[in-house]
Amino acid sequence: MTDTEQNPETDGGIDTGGDAADAEPDLEGEATPVPIADPELSADAVRRVESVLEDGRLADGPEVRAFEEEFAAYCGTDEAVATANGTTALHAALEALGVEDGDAVITSPFSFVASANAIRLAGGKPVFADIDPETYTLDPTDVERVLGERDDIVGILPVHLYGLPADMPALCDIADEHELFVLEDACQAHGAKVDGRRVGAFGDAACFSFYPTKNMTTGEGGMIVTDRDDVADRAASYVNHGRNVSGTGGYDHVDLGHNYRLTSIGAAIGRTQLERLSDFNRARREIAVFYDDRFADLPLETPTEPTGSRHVYHQYTIRTDERDALEASLSERDVGTGIYYGTPIHRQPAYETISTAAATLPEAERAADEVLSLPVHPGVSERDRRTVVEAVRDHYTTQ
Ligand SMILES: Cc1ncc(COP(=O)(O)O)c(C=O)c1O
Repeated sequence: MTDTEQNPETDGGIDTGGDAADAEPDLEGEATPVPIADPELSADAVRRVESVLEDGRLADGPEVRAFEEEFAAYCGTDEAVATANGTTALHAALEALGVEDGDAVITSPFSFVASANAIRLAGGKPVFADIDPETYTLDPTDVERVLGERDDIVGILPVHLYGLPADMPALCDIADEHELFVLEDACQAHGAKVDGRRVGAFGDAACFSFYPTKNMTTGEGGMIVTDRDDVADRAASYVNHGRNVSGTGGYDHVDLGHNYRLTSIGAAIGRTQLERLSDFNRARREIAVFYDDRFADLPLETPTEPTGSRHVYHQYTIRTDERDALEASLSERDVGTGIYYGTPIHRQPAYETISTAAATLPEAERAADEVLSLPVHPGVSERDRRTVVEAVRDHYTTQ
């Protein structure tokens, strides 16, 4: 359940208006379909893109540098490196952290496949530890079990799934003890916090995605944030063909790199989205509270927000053993839903040849059968919320 009392931050506090059921306005007219995602772009974004078009520096210009500075400041890190998307951010960050052929990195099997793919792209071996069934994020106890069984682990890549931070204090302690790097996959968690600190500032580095369904977007885009100058310099070089970042630019290539650069148009959109991110996250949290209150008496599990964590509800994901029937009922009522993720990464066909994917990870496998995400984006209107709630409640009361 969402506990708003424990997060009285200025950008996170929510006024639920007391008993919200009594406060609901009488909304007339036909309910319309409620999509699972709906990116919100402002007139400001259009204006800023127009000024980039007029300026003409469409790739890797001052707009990108400004976005990097503003995003680093938002996360509370010293440095940021913009990339073409979240996957390239993870790949370049792993390379910058020194992952080499055969290095093993512990990650979550219950994530978008990119979390583990990036390890493979960097030449490493993903090793899966199971998730905590309440938070859906890496279980530190299972990470310790894996570390007890292997001596080739070089780092931990926790995923802040659905907008909820992984248990960073415990995972960072484990990493310190075993001298491992921590790379946060924060692709779904822009603005989420642990003990008042934003995600991105815990690990050696962190990566974000700005795909259109995320809490903020640039169309396609990504960002690496870090306090480590060496990691920032290497990452900036890898995303730009291994160019010598301390030189004069030009064609001095000191490493094998990639073209993983963000466009100036993407950065222009991103800067306007970052200005609105706190409002977006506040709206998501308000909708989550609305759902929590109205689902409390139903036989389903609502999302958890552990003490000290601030969830930003990239997804509002419920858990029920009649997931598929509920999904069908909601679809009949034009309520969009998503299953993130119906197949854990270690069970994906693309992982059949990966020896570490043979693991049994019961919590990830059970979650894959039971999770269902409901619309929680800022475009979900008051009427939409009620449509979603009615559709879920009707499923349980008309059986
Ligand atoms: C947890 C996670 N990691 C990585 C990625 C990859 O980001 P992108 O799609 O921008 O490459 C995503 C995007 O969906 C994600 O959700």
